[in-house]
Parts: sequence; C-alpha cells; structure tokens
Amino acid sequence: MRDDTSSIERLSLEAPAKVNLTLRVLGARSDGYHDLESVVAAVSLFDTLEFEAAPNLKITCEGMAVPAGNENLVMKAARRLVAQTGCCKGAHIHLKKRIPAGRGFGGGSSDAAAALVGLNALWRTGLGPGDLARLGASIGSDVPLFFGPCVSVMRGRGEHVEPVPAVPCWWMVLAWPAFGLPTAEVYAAYDRLPRPAAPRPAATEILGSLSRPAREAQALLVNDLEPAADVVRGARTNVRVILQEAGAVAVGMTGSGSAYFALADTRADACCLAERIRAAGAETYVATPTADVQAQKEGPS
Ligand code: C5P
Repeated sequence: MRDDTSSIERLSLEAPAKVNLTLRVLGARSDGYHDLESVVAAVSLFDTLEFEAAPNLKITCEGMAVPAGNENLVMKAARRLVAQTGCCKGAHIHLKKRIPAGRGFGGGSSDAAAALVGLNALWRTGLGPGDLARLGASIGSDVPLFFGPCVSVMRGRGEHVEPVPAVPCWWMVLAWPAFGLPTAEVYAAYDRLPRPAAPRPAATEILGSLSRPAREAQALLVNDLEPAADVVRGARTNVRVILQEAGAVAVGMTGSGSAYFALADTRADACCLAERIRAAGAETYVATPTADVQAQKEGPS
C-alpha cells in the first residue's frame, strides 16, 4: 500500500482467498469459539473492491452470489470503522466477487480486511495496520490473517497471526462443489465427534516443507475439521475423492470446507489436474500463493 493518501478519491484493492494448509483444533473456549493452530497461505483467487468517495455508504456487487446490504461483511467493516473513528464520510464500494462463499476460502473475511484498508485510505482515518487487524478480529475470526504476508500461523480463535517470511513453491489447484458448508455447523459437529486417537503432525511442520516437492507435503496437510465436514456434507459430492481419483498427490481441505486444494509442482501438472476435476463435476481454479495480500490495483486518482 502507498502511504501518501492525501488525494485519494477512488482506489481499487484485490482481496485474495486463503487456504488452510493445516488446521488443528486445540480446544473449545468458553466464548463458543475454538482455539486453533493453523498454517494459512493467501492464494491468487481474488475479489476486487473498488472504492469511490460518495455522500452515503453503499455497496453494489457483481459476479458470484453474496449477501447484499448490511449483512455483507464489507458493510460490517465499514460500519465498524465509522464507529471506531467517528468518521462521517460515505463511500460507494463495488465488489466484484470471484471467491465462492461458504467454501472455506475466507472470501468474506478478505473482503472485510480490504474494506478496512480501502476506507481507511479513502477517508484518511489514519489507523495503522495493527489497529485495522484488531478491528477486523471483531468482524470475523479470519479477518486478521489478511493483514499478514502470504503465509502466517494463526492461533487463538484467529486473532493471533504470526507472519512467516516464506512463500510456498507450489501451484495450487482449488476445487469446490456446488454447495457450501456453514462454519458454525461444522464446529458443532466437531464437538460431537470423538477426538482423533492417532498423534498428528504439528501444524507448523509444514513450514519446513514449503520448498519441497508437493508429494512430500501430503502427510502434513492435516485439517481436524475434515471428519466433521464429512458429517455435515453427508452423501453430497466429496471433492477429496474427485481430486484423488484425478491423480492429485497432496490434497487438503481448507477451513471448514467444502473446498479442497491440491498442491502441484508445475503449472502443467496443475492445469492437467484442473481439467480432470472439471470433467468430474467440481468447480476449479488454478492459483499460486500470493505475496500480494492487500495489493493496490490502481493508484490514487
Ligand atoms: O468468526 P466467524 O464468524 O468466522 O465464525 C463463524 C462460526 O464458526 C462461529 O460462530 C463459531 O461457531 C465457529 N468458530 C469457532 N472457532 C473459531 C472460528 C469459528 O468455533 N476459531
């Protein structure tokens, strides 16, 4: 982000999706949330948010379906920023939605983070990244991680984000079914299931593998929510099976599902896998890890 915001009337930000390379649930908390340890990577599937100074606050959307109006996390973020700073300016926010909702890609949280960054610049409210990330935590558990670099380790309910100075070398084939899974339902199902008996690799073991061949990461892509997501999914499309039958060598579930990702060593491997997955009936997108979290697309005008 540029820091000379004195003349900004309009700006545009790209909000990336994330994948949870690992996710361990450490325990239930008294506030209804769960303590986690998760290694997360931002990936190059982006929503675009365009901001323009306007008398009132309003949002328009195009692309994939998203809640309109006040229940949209972008509007929630805007109202939180107003409440925090006392700013009484307006804005027209146009959201181009490409990250499917309810699949575990954190699209709504990423949009909320971008809204805080964009409006903070547009309104010159002067909050620092730490202030914005704290404000973000009150909007959704995944919002703070979108203030970090490509890879971070997320702890607590999501509010503690440790940046990792490394970018994975893999291509990522994202794949998702026609339905989403409600996060709260997946956590509730997790609470009803027995805890895993076998010892699991520490979430952070993956950090030593970010530049190793994809195949070597397979045993480390552990997501404790997957058995619970399986229960909530029931007999509907299992994207893990589709990916594995298509020949993917390293597959993980992101967030609370329903989406999965497969790691690939080359673009050719990733595109070939994506084609087979598409033929088997899942939606797919070939992405790379992105270091460009909160990248500004156009400068001030
Ligand atoms: O914070 P967010 O709105 O994304 O969380 C949605 C739901 O997911 C929460 O209401 C809670 O049931 C569950 N959750 C949880 N522990 C977390 C994150 C989310 O139990 N760390």
